[in-house]
Amino acid sequence: MRVLVVGGGGREHALCWALAASPLLTKLFCAPGNAGIAEVAECIAISAEDISALVAFAKGKSIDLVVVGPEAPLTLGLADACAAAGLKCFGPSAAAARLEGSKTFTKEVADAAGAPTAAWARFTDAAAARGCIQEKGAPIVVKADGLAAGKGVVVAATTAEAEAAIADIMEDRVHGAAGASVVIEECLVGEEISFFALCDGETALPLGAAQDHKRVGDGDTGLNTGGMGAYSPPPAFTEALQQDVMDHIIRPVLAEMARRGAPFKGVLFAGLMITAQGPKLIEFNVRFGDPECQVLMLRLKSDLLPALLAACDGELARFDLRWEAQHAMLVVIAARGYPGSYAKGSEIRGLEAAGQVPGVQVFHAGTARREDGALIATGGRVLGIAATGKTLREARDAAYAAVDLLDWPGGFCRRDIGWRALT
Ligand code: AMP
Ligand code: GLY
Repeated sequence: MRVLVVGGGGREHALCWALAASPLLTKLFCAPGNAGIAEVAECIAISAEDISALVAFAKGKSIDLVVVGPEAPLTLGLADACAAAGLKCFGPSAAAARLEGSKTFTKEVADAAGAPTAAWARFTDAAAARGCIQEKGAPIVVKADGLAAGKGVVVAATTAEAEAAIADIMEDRVHGAAGASVVIEECLVGEEISFFALCDGETALPLGAAQDHKRVGDGDTGLNTGGMGAYSPPPAFTEALQQDVMDHIIRPVLAEMARRGAPFKGVLFAGLMITAQGPKLIEFNVRFGDPECQVLMLRLKSDLLPALLAACDGELARFDLRWEAQHAMLVVIAARGYPGSYAKGSEIRGLEAAGQVPGVQVFHAGTARREDGALIATGGRVLGIAATGKTLREARDAAYAAVDLLDWPGGFCRRDIGWRALT
């Protein structure tokens, strides 16, 4: 089979790495890819958001399956454009991708499906939003309603902080049009888990859970990022909790989406808070998480390609996913300054030595090759050093042993990935 993966981060490297191992694969392309992906796929210089160019390329190259990594092309309708062109695409339609694109839509669907989630209200008027904050008190959560690159959420410890968020989002429009309306939510307390389900519109199969580390600094301090590391499985997420989430969140939401004429096909990523009252939905994403995807791919025993095809073809009810009984951890190496401004173009050395540590797999996120062949950093999150082990501790030790072999003064990482599970 001829496959095109869309995207160019660590998640897409992990997807390409898993697909490249499939005996069913004959040719793998990735648009736009990165220097690591180029070792397993042919990288094509098309942006992940250039829908018409992606479809034209896929038609021209007789692609059998398009696999979409990031959310932006999905909300722009890549899956719909593929369907119109007679191409098979793994990822939801634009209508189903609203589960990530609009927080209000997600809350309405969750309520209609009876899925447990934080109490909420939506406001298009700043004065009314401030009134709600005064009435409910803190802690309280304020969210820009639209897509804000993961930065539109303020978990406010005080009402003053929440009101400042209203000013930023609604009046100063720091996230642009995404701030035309806000969602104000009850603050959930507990352990946060990323849970993934493979969906074919009707049937959902659990893909497992991972814990992300969103803050830039050790001990979960500092600014929010796209994710500085992940591990799987999280010990707090038991088999019983997984069953609870499948029965009360994933399957009812899938049924509600089908009822609304927008069946969900692809990976449904539920951000969960494990509260004292049980798991509650924080948000949905309509794709794999990054860096969660990398650790899930290391634990997946089944061939990924037929699993994605079964999701596209509505055949998951007859499908079985198998997992390695091992732990996986990933440490993100980011450019100094991330998630603020950072330099690009510095050279990274020592990757070969790092990749030879037993159990280690290196995923590239923001890398390119200079003309002389040197590996250079081109993004905020630059590399993911992943490792597997019989225990989480073993995976952690291998990952950090590899990290210490890197020679890149321009980079940094958190030194405490997995701390919640290891202390
Ligand atoms: P999001 O951008 O929607 O992923 O939200 C960013 C982060 O804000 C989440 O990962 C949570 O840590 C936090 N968050 C969002 N909603 C809530 C809530 N209702 N209660 C507590 N924390 C929340
Ligand atoms: N790691 C969180 C995300 O991909 O949104």
